[in-house]
Amino acid sequence: MRPRLALAVASIGLCIGVPALAASQPAIEYRQYLMKTLEAQFQAITLIYIGGAPAENLHSHLTAALLTARMLPAAFEPRAPGGASQPQIWTKWDDYARHMREFEARIAIALEASKDGTPPQDVLFHIDAISCRECHDRYRRH
Ligand code: HEC
Repeated sequence: MRPRLALAVASIGLCIGVPALAASQPAIEYRQYLMKTLEAQFQAITLIYIGGAPAENLHSHLTAALLTARMLPAAFEPRAPGGASQPQIWTKWDDYARHMREFEARIAIALEASKDGTPPQDVLFHIDAISCRECHDRYRRH
């Protein structure tokens, strides 16, 4: 009797658990693609500062980064634990949302500073203020 009950519970668990896991997979992958997009933009920006990449594109890279940052709240809102996300994202949503807003605001400031062909060196201070680590240290598994 006991083993059979255990088996029944396990199979119910499978029925409920597996589809739920499968359903959250696109949500996890989606937010990871947004992060990869951010990484690509900031790697390109780094090459502009190192030299050899077109400085006139700085404003466009920051525009792409700002658009991506604006997509983060909707990407994390679905409660889809997994990936490298810490569960505190959803248990402390207000604080996480504040980090996303602050991140977006700092990109917007750098974008504004990069207008009208301003030399990249004059924007560097604002680029340095854009922190990925502030959020990763708290909300991403290492
Ligand atoms: C508001 C919080 C937050 C900010 C700001 C943030 N990240 Fe993330 N990032 C995360 C979380 C959470 C994950 C884990 C996502 C997951 O796997 O569920 C992550 C994951 C990543 C990943 C791994 C993606 C993958 O393929 O698994 C990269 C790369 C990344 N971030 C780059 C960046 C860069 C570059 C910046 C800054 C320009 C940045 N992130 C800013 C929260 C943030």
